[in-house]
Amino acid sequence: MGKLLIVNGSPRAPRSNSRRYIEQFLPCWGETADQYTALRGGPLSPEDCTDLLLVFPLYADGIPAVLMRTLKELAVWRGTARPRIHVLVNCGFLEPEQTRPAVEMVRFFCKRYGFPWGMALQIGSGEAILNTPFSFLVRRGLRRLAAGMRAGRSEVLSVRMPLNRRMFVWASGRYWTDYGAKNNITAGEMRTMEIEGG
Ligand SMILES: Cc1cc2nc3c(=O)[nH]c(=O)nc-3n(C[C@H](O)[C@H](O)[C@H](O)COP(=O)(O)O)c2cc1C
Repeated sequence: MGKLLIVNGSPRAPRSNSRRYIEQFLPCWGETADQYTALRGGPLSPEDCTDLLLVFPLYADGIPAVLMRTLKELAVWRGTARPRIHVLVNCGFLEPEQTRPAVEMVRFFCKRYGFPWGMALQIGSGEAILNTPFSFLVRRGLRRLAAGMRAGRSEVLSVRMPLNRRMFVWASGRYWTDYGAKNNITAGEMRTMEIEGG
């Protein structure tokens, strides 16, 4: 099997859901992989890599700024043996289709800078799903992602919680209200633009 480099493209990398997705992906991949944290930056050297997996959250329907910095580095990288680029993107909303523009941005980047395009896994309800009994759906998606990468396929896979929208909005509202209460913040306070009293 080829060599894989995994990029964590979350702005909150050490405490991110992306980090949890990477941890769960590794056993599915079954080999060691190099890791790079976009937030930390530093030189990116994908030499010898056959595959590069970008793991990131959806930010305002697009790619987080920290990952843009990494893509800019890749754009000027002079290596000729281009690794195949794959995407694992998660978003807060229920529908994985919300991540489609971000996937297309990376696909366009690959076309523009001569990187082969590979697999994409779009995870809807990505903030919550790992903490629910539906986390097995994520593991199944990750296994399919790894298998597709190994086989050199190009497919877009999707995972989401099997809830209707009403149920999802109710459950997530309750989750954030309880979360606020634990931190002595009311639901009303959370609806304001005040950040840490600033
Ligand atoms: C500034 C910001 C913008 C976001 N924009 C979106 C969005 O457009 N659509 C969406 O579904 N989720 C959005 N989210 C939710 C994140 O995608 C979600 O919380 C994700 O699980 C974070 O992943 P991470 O922990 O790996 O950074 C946003 C979150 C933040 C903080």
